Amino acid sequence: MASELSGIDAIGRTAFAVASLRAAEHRHPEGLFTDPYAERILRAAGMPLEPQADSRGFAAVMGAQVVVRSRYFDDLLLGAAATGCRQIVLVASGMDSRPWRLAWPEGTVLFEVEQEPVLRFKDHVMDEHDAQPAGLRHPVATDLRDDWASALTEAGFHADLPTAWLVEGLLYALEETSADQLLAVLSELSAPGSVLAFDHFEVGPSLRAATDRISPDLTRLWKSGPTDPAAWLHRHGWEPSVHELADVADSFGRTVHPAYTPGPAAEGHSWLASATRTTAALPD
Ligand SMILES: C[S@@+](CC[C@H](N)C(=O)[O-])C[C@H]1O[C@@H](n2cnc3c(N)ncnc32)[C@H](O)[C@@H]1O
Repeated sequence: MASELSGIDAIGRTAFAVASLRAAEHRHPEGLFTDPYAERILRAAGMPLEPQADSRGFAAVMGAQVVVRSRYFDDLLLGAAATGCRQIVLVASGMDSRPWRLAWPEGTVLFEVEQEPVLRFKDHVMDEHDAQPAGLRHPVATDLRDDWASALTEAGFHADLPTAWLVEGLLYALEETSADQLLAVLSELSAPGSVLAFDHFEVGPSLRAATDRISPDLTRLWKSGPTDPAAWLHRHGWEPSVHELADVADSFGRTVHPAYTPGPAAEGHSWLASATRTTAALPD
């Protein structure tokens, strides 16, 4: 398994940081979700189950974001599946275990679009534990900078069926133009009635300082992504519903780091967004 880990690049390794925050929530007595797979993945990777000294600041800033978004997207995706989107695409799925841990309705087909080494590592862990996905799962090993639409189609995706898309933990690692290209392709593949969900935030000094403590290389992964999520969705033909993370957290009885709590100490917005596909791109 160690050799498989060495094939995973810097951005791919960020998936393990997310897994460690989900593993911590799994141990929480009143957790917003359960994810027994996160800990298995960390153990297989030989990574600590608790944040070490250098990553405690990162856990403090990002912990609630990951936990709240995870639960929010669980609810949203299961709701979309229950109301007709039986095709689910997890874009840049990393160590997300939703195909295994959520109770998908019968007939749900799930696609995980990810880099091949990341998928290989996760598949290996799931196989070792004889874990069975709750729907028909298709790993799609590809790079989102390449022709991922063809890879997805070859894996059995049907663009004429309503789809629930999740783009989680990715947009802040993309330049605005790359995010725009991603959404353009995804929108082309989205039949009316499709649903899209994503998280996004403005990187501020607290987050930069926290990732600098782990490695400046990690800080260099932060990019801007789309600067105005609602306008961005609207421009690509989606009816947006954009929320502040702090408000969603509050609805779950959680609080977020002050850097992302609207008020004088805020360092930027942190959003959770969903959208439904209308038909074509809308005028601004
Ligand atoms: C922070 S992780 C988030 C993983 C997962 N969505 C989650 O929330 O647990 C970012 C993921 O994006 C993937 N990723 C980044 N750039 C990519 C690209 N060009 N093609 C495919 N996957 C990519 C990485 O491999 C990594 O797994």
